[in-house]
Amino acid sequence: MTKGLFITFEGADGCGKTTQIELLDKYLKENGKQTLLTREPGAKGLGTKLREILLNYDGEVSPQCESFLFLADRAQHIDCIIRPALQEGKVVLCDRHTDSTVAYQGYGRGLDLDRINMLNDIATGGLKPDLTIVFDVDVETSMQRVGKEKDRMESAGMEFFNKVRQGYLEIAKKEPERVKVINSSDTIENIHKQVMELIKEL
Ligand code: TMP
Repeated sequence: MTKGLFITFEGADGCGKTTQIELLDKYLKENGKQTLLTREPGAKGLGTKLREILLNYDGEVSPQCESFLFLADRAQHIDCIIRPALQEGKVVLCDRHTDSTVAYQGYGRGLDLDRINMLNDIATGGLKPDLTIVFDVDVETSMQRVGKEKDRMESAGMEFFNKVRQGYLEIAKKEPERVKVINSSDTIENIHKQVMELIKEL
């Protein structure tokens, strides 16, 4: 049994979620909560090595291989970092998690969704977030925010990112209790207010 709260933040590259997680973390800490701010891929240790390969390797990477590397990072992250923090009663704020693999490798790369769900379940040992916030913004805006210097994943192109965006919206439709969508084209302040409303409900 976990005692803490597990909240994940999702969206296409350039959706603005990292800024929002930092704002929420600051708010929770100022209000006396113990938090863990973490991310996938590459929270620390072995994960940072996997992140380096996933984002910067410049040779061919098959979609299956890519999925397994993200899943390997997730298994390590859940076992060594997330589960222990939840058992200590912390609020875990995680920048990307299982839905990224569904959106990017499933909807984006076209891998079988049922298989990805099954592999996610193995990697997490069945642990599910209490809340997932998807930051939704049109692809043109998100690519502008990413800028010219793109990593391996960010270089996948507009068509890919349209599929990723649609993927996130489908995930939210399938699991409306867990997954909430916020329009991320608004100001940082207004988006933060919407995040706070969801957190207070939780
Ligand atoms: P970020 O930390 O800047 O969001 O970069 C992580 C990149 O990895 C981003 O492009 C999304 C991608 N990604 C996947 O494709 N699948 C996954 O399961 C995860 C966690 C991330």
